Amino acid sequence: MLQIQENVSLKSFNTFGIDVSARYFVEIAHEEDLAELFLDPQWKSIKRLVLGGGSNMLLVTDFDGLIVRINIRGIEHRINHNEVFVEAGAGEVWNDLVNYSVNRGYAGIENLSLIPGSVGASPIQNIGAYGVELKDVFKSCRAFEIATGQIRTFSKEDCRFGYRESIFKDELKGQFIITSVKLHLSLVPHLNLEYGAIKQELANRNITDPTIADVSRAVSHIRVSKLPDPSTIGNAGSFFKNPVISSDQFEAVYSKFPDVVSYPATESRVKLAAGWLIEQCGWKGKVVGHTGTWKNQALVLVNHGGATGEEVYSLSSQIIDSVYTKFGVLLEREVNIID
Ligand code: FAD
Ligand code: EPU
Repeated sequence: MLQIQENVSLKSFNTFGIDVSARYFVEIAHEEDLAELFLDPQWKSIKRLVLGGGSNMLLVTDFDGLIVRINIRGIEHRINHNEVFVEAGAGEVWNDLVNYSVNRGYAGIENLSLIPGSVGASPIQNIGAYGVELKDVFKSCRAFEIATGQIRTFSKEDCRFGYRESIFKDELKGQFIITSVKLHLSLVPHLNLEYGAIKQELANRNITDPTIADVSRAVSHIRVSKLPDPSTIGNAGSFFKNPVISSDQFEAVYSKFPDVVSYPATESRVKLAAGWLIEQCGWKGKVVGHTGTWKNQALVLVNHGGATGEEVYSLSSQIIDSVYTKFGVLLEREVNIID
């Protein structure tokens, strides 16, 4: 029998540490629990939020609806020659899955070490870091359709992954709950060391022939040095996406700001480093009330203690305005705004 709790504090369920509460809260430990929950029409029609680790959301206010917290566990794998298929429950911690794989020599997700959050949320924004995205190793996921109660399997193509994008954030937003994710890893590593910081970190450690465990440790070290630890300083990682703009728009920015940090995105589009744009507007390390931007990474908004969701949201709006005024570039929030 599912336990539906009432008036539950969400402070420890979101990495920003925003102190709001939920009207109803239920924890789901098995895929079948979802069918049981949504048999009751009350829960189908009420405002809902699926919650993993709460590391990519800003809770602006009390949630007047049902929080469905996913805690489906279990990791298993199957080896076929050099290929490894690892399947994990949506409630597993993403970094536990990385460690499970790296410790066994299953290559492919070592660059995604130490990203907070759950396995089930990893396809939602196609998590990415240090030259690798989930889509590079994604095989399929199982998902529960709320309207029909059916389980559907989504292939990589079905998910329409893009930079911090998937069908689950777009066309199918709010319609499916991911219950497990299957990855296609390999016993033969194809290391991705294109990110300068990884090469530099391996050189600092005098490692010339790195293993996937070396890469995982290097990435973890870089991340810890740049990003605030949510257990001491509330945050949700990059608050905005790096903007992807047309070559023409890029030329206009570049002609005025030749130092702009950019990367080719496609043949006709360029990605800008949002952290650089925000820093140039004078926001880096700035404290505004209980909130501000991180001293080592201007793209990360932080809760210095006691910040409300509204305060963080208002700061994000001010940053969007000032970047637009200076550069003519519109920043888009990466973090899910829940109000
Ligand atoms: P939540 O915040 O709980 O949910 C995020 C969204 O997914 C919500 O819309 C929620 O409703 C939905 N959702 C969650 N679980 C499910 C499910 N099972 N089925 C359907 N919908 C679901 N992200 C990166 O991509 N790269 C990084 O390098 C990175 N670094 C970070 C560093 C820090 C310090 C922090 C705090 C965050 C970082 N993030 C990064 C963001 C975050 O870790 C990822 O987005 C992660 O996948 C969120 O997982 P979560 O379980 O916490 O999701
Ligand atoms: N920069 C600045 N000032 C800053 C921050 C960055 O000038 O305050 C410039 C620097 O030139 C730096 C460049 O921006 O070299 C890129 O910075 P960084 O390597 O820290 O990466 P990012 O583009 O800011 C992205 C992801 C991160 C991911 C890292 C590593 C997005 C929105 N963010 O950040 O993901 O970990 O690359 O791959 O794409 C997240 O999504 O939450 C997240 C943390």
